[in-house]
Amino acid sequence: MKIAVLISGRGSNLQSILNAIRKNTLNCVVSFVISDREDAAGLIRAQKRGIPTYVVDRKIWKERLSDEILRIVSDQVDLIVLAGFLSLLKGEILNKYKNRIINIHPSLIPAFCGKGMYGMKVHESAITYRVGYSGCTVHFVDEGMDTGGIILQKIVKVNPEDTPDTLAKKILKKEHQAIVEAINLFLQEENH
Ligand code: GRF
Repeated sequence: MKIAVLISGRGSNLQSILNAIRKNTLNCVVSFVISDREDAAGLIRAQKRGIPTYVVDRKIWKERLSDEILRIVSDQVDLIVLAGFLSLLKGEILNKYKNRIINIHPSLIPAFCGKGMYGMKVHESAITYRVGYSGCTVHFVDEGMDTGGIILQKIVKVNPEDTPDTLAKKILKKEHQAIVEAINLFLQEENH
């Protein structure tokens, strides 16, 4: 199976995918890594493994961003993985890749998701609400924001001494497992 990974920043979830492939706990090929920002550190992680990278700058492509990404992946990948990708995909790519685009979000959807809920805002909200548990969700991508069907979730306990920063770190560890597990689940389904 071939996948494309879309990123906007650090790319630690991408790294987790690459590590799992190297350890043979994930049997797929990352054909492309695409970033919507040219300064995304994750691009270097991909280049170190010899994976073709593309920058589709969101400030340049604006409304045509999704179509340009579709043009790059064309029909060459089976699955598109959004790993810390901050732009919203729209239009034809959602039809062409229906149930074949997945996203990871750092909360237990439907809590702390949707418009404006990204980065540290997610964890700040969880702390403000004094939730007992938070976590991460891998879900299919549809035309909404964080609204597609849930594939899997992982939970972390939120302790009274947790800050947005410590919570983000705990959840990120779970994200790294969740993203690999979700791709493996997709693989198993495809092979049936
Ligand atoms: C993760 O918390 C992801 O869930 C969120 O952005 C962060 C990206 O981290 N959407 P990284 O770029 O994979 O390190």
